[in-house]
Amino acid sequence: MASFLSKIFKKHYEPRPIFAALGTDMHCHLVPKVDDGSKCVEESIECLNTLKAVGYNKVIITPHFQYPRFPNDEDDICRRYDELKRQATEAGVEIEMAGVGGEYRIDSGFAKRLENPRFLQVGGKYVLVEFSLHQQMMGCDEMIFDMQMKGYEVILAHPERYPYLNVAGSRMEQLKNQGVYFQINALSLGGFYGEEAKHKAYEMLEAGWVEFMGTDTHNTMYAQALIELSNDRKVEKVLEKYKFMNNTL
Ligand SMILES: [Fe+2]
Repeated sequence: MASFLSKIFKKHYEPRPIFAALGTDMHCHLVPKVDDGSKCVEESIECLNTLKAVGYNKVIITPHFQYPRFPNDEDDICRRYDELKRQATEAGVEIEMAGVGGEYRIDSGFAKRLENPRFLQVGGKYVLVEFSLHQQMMGCDEMIFDMQMKGYEVILAHPERYPYLNVAGSRMEQLKNQGVYFQINALSLGGFYGEEAKHKAYEMLEAGWVEFMGTDTHNTMYAQALIELSNDRKVEKVLEKYKFMNNTL
């Protein structure tokens, strides 16, 4: 009964432009039909408009590259991105579409990818990588090291979401010492992924271990959560105080 009533009386939130301090969203899944993100152009356009409404002026879209679940090809993603950009412009979307990167899962297919790297980079400089949410992949530190030796700057997506990575544990610190940039998800700060991820995201901010914040927007449900988050004063304070690198992109 309580959840039924809370659905009926759910508070209506208006978007507030608190993310203007970041300028650029550098992690979202808004190329339609290529991963578990947006399902159609209309949904992408609605999400892009929401990003603008909560304060972003630029967006870099980062489809999943994950073997074998999302066997995306870089050239195909670029074509689809260009088509989305054309349609968004036609629809009057105001946020600047500043390019397409990828979110590369370090999985069993990643070593092969490294032999002939064609990474779509975030801001033409960084490769955004993610780990499995369930278990650590053996040898992933070595693969990150290999990427760095090849001259890539590596950003790890949402470290707060991996249950096996803890702020107090040595592993997160080791990655930081290895020169890996950390990107937390904005929605983690509102508890969208649960209390543990929320707590870890705040702990990471306190430790000064965060360089980037991304929305990781997949669809309109995420966009709605982002509007709600834009009314969170604690998050607003974080954005006022903390120096993120998003606006360097
Ligand atoms: Fe993502």
